[in-house]
This record gives sequence, C-alpha cells and structure tokens, in this order.
Amino acid sequence: MNTSTSDLEPKSVQTSYVQPDRTAAPRATVDREVRRTVGDVRVAEPRIRCNDINVYYGTAHAIKGVNLDVARNEVVAMIGPSGCGKSTFLRCLNRMNDTIDGCRVTGEILLDERNINTREIDVVPLRAQVGMVFQKPNPFPKSIWENVAFGPRIHGLARTRAQLDEIVESSLRRAGLWEEVKDRLEKPGTGLSGGQQQRLCIARTIAVQPEVILMDEPCSALDPISTAKIEELIDELRQQFSICIVTHSMQQAARVSQRTAYFHLGDLIEVGATEQIFTNPQHKLTEDYITGRFG
Ligand SMILES: Nc1ncnc2c1ncn2[C@@H]1O[C@H](COP(=O)(O)OP(=O)(O)O)[C@@H](O)[C@H]1O
Ligand SMILES: [Mg+2]
Repeated sequence: MNTSTSDLEPKSVQTSYVQPDRTAAPRATVDREVRRTVGDVRVAEPRIRCNDINVYYGTAHAIKGVNLDVARNEVVAMIGPSGCGKSTFLRCLNRMNDTIDGCRVTGEILLDERNINTREIDVVPLRAQVGMVFQKPNPFPKSIWENVAFGPRIHGLARTRAQLDEIVESSLRRAGLWEEVKDRLEKPGTGLSGGQQQRLCIARTIAVQPEVILMDEPCSALDPISTAKIEELIDELRQQFSICIVTHSMQQAARVSQRTAYFHLGDLIEVGATEQIFTNPQHKLTEDYITGRFG
C-alpha cells in the first residue's frame, strides 16, 4: 500500500521554515495527547500574551503548551484542582519560577509585546512591573510606612521624604487601608490583622506602579469580612491594572473576574467569559469541576 503524504504536505513547504502565526488557534505540542484549549485564548491588544508555555520541574511536565492572553483592565481567574499548575503558570508571568531549583520554562511571554522570558530581561524591574501578592500575607518585619516606601525607594520613584510620604499615603488609600493605619505608620506591619496585612501587601505592590498584579489565593487565609474587602479592592484596582488571580473558590472567581481559565493536570482546558464558564462550560472536564464532580 502506498500511503504517500504528498497530497497533505505540498513539497514547497516541506523544507522551508513557516513563520508561526501568533494569532492563530493554539498549537498543541506533539509529544503527547493533543489537547486544544476550548474557547478564545486571545484578546485584542493584550497586555500579556503567552505563546506555548511549558514548565518542567526536572522531568515532570507541569505546564503543557499553554497559550493565553491577558487584557488591560481585566481580572482573569485561574481555577482547577489542586496541583493542576495554577501557581506554576502564575509564576511564569513575573519569572518567579527562576527562583526554583530545577524549574525550566520554555515559550514566549510578551508583556506589552516584549518577551520577558529571555536572558536579557532584568527580573528586578520586571517584578515591580508585574507584582505579586501571595496566599499568606508577608509584610516585611518593618514599619507600615517602610513596607510601602521600600519599593519606590529602591526603584527610584521618589527623591524626597515628602514624595515618599505621598506615595505611601496614596498607595494605602487605594488599598483601602489608610484610615485604619494613618495614626500608626511607624508601627510594625506584622502587628496588623491578617486582612490588614494582605491589604498592606497590596499597597506595597501598587506603590511601585505595576501594570499587572498576580494574586495567588490571596484570600485563603482570611476571614469572610476581610475577603469581601479584598474582593471589592480587586474590582477597583481593575480600573488601572490587569489582574490574574488564582483561587480555589469558584464563588470568588465568579464575583471578581471577567474571564476564567480552567486548568487540569498542566493543560489549559478552557477559557471564556466567567459567566459562560460557570453557566455553560463547553468542555466535559470544566463541567465536572464546576459541578463538583471532580476536584
Ligand atoms: N517547587 C516544585 N518542585 C517540584 N514540583 C513542583 C514544585 N512546585 C509545584 N510542583 C508540581 O507541579 C505541579 C503543579 O503545582 P502547582 O503549580 O503548585 O499547582 P496548583 O497551584 O494548581 O495547586 C504539581 O504536580 C506540583 O507537585
Ligand atoms: Mg497553588
């Protein structure tokens, strides 16, 4: 039997390099079961564009050929069962995986059209531009004022004490914390309640004028009232920043995000408008997860 492939692969392109079409539907990697993300991973004028991101811990393949855009002024929620790669993917966006021994990231991550996943990129300014808020509030063991002023000072955003005072106040105001701490700015940040500490960490992040804020389960250590405050804050911050939030709470994803991305075992299974994902998921795995059959 002669199964010539000439009908499928015209000779003219067999040996020539074909420029990848960055706007095309995501490609699946070839060394595994083909998995295409359901839904539109692209947006017009993205702030962040991820092209074929793979992450390996040693030989373990933790993120598998993920393509995803993040728009301006939007909150993207990342959901999925524990261990599916949400934190790993989030850490790609400001090169935090660089700090993990044995972790290797491939693919292109364009921040305002510049690839941040190259050797030439200085990660210090990058991590100001793409700030991160962690699960457990982690203020520095310094005063409230110092926690917020530290970043602007090392990044040269202020020259005088008066300018620093102004940044500290405006950042704390925008984080919804000013009224609660204005009379105790010289007290340690670690003396605040958990919810206040998390808002202090958000103030610290926005003080260096980021473009993107990454949040990895920012409310999972907080009580419901503090959680509600942070969620309100996220909605306000969206006016100025792009926000990627990992959450294990589907209610939270539904409340704060405009788009939702569902991960499963390192694959980005489905992306869509949050309302659509939660009311009319297209992929069986997404449906199983949101209806509580899995995860
Ligand atoms: N520092 C690490 N070293 C080795 N493997 C890791 C590390 N961090 C995460 N992993 C593995 O990568 C996969 C994804 O983990 P993670 O991104 O933490 O998932 P999620 O945030 O969705 O719970 C898991 O299998 C996890 O065990
Ligand atoms: Mg995680």
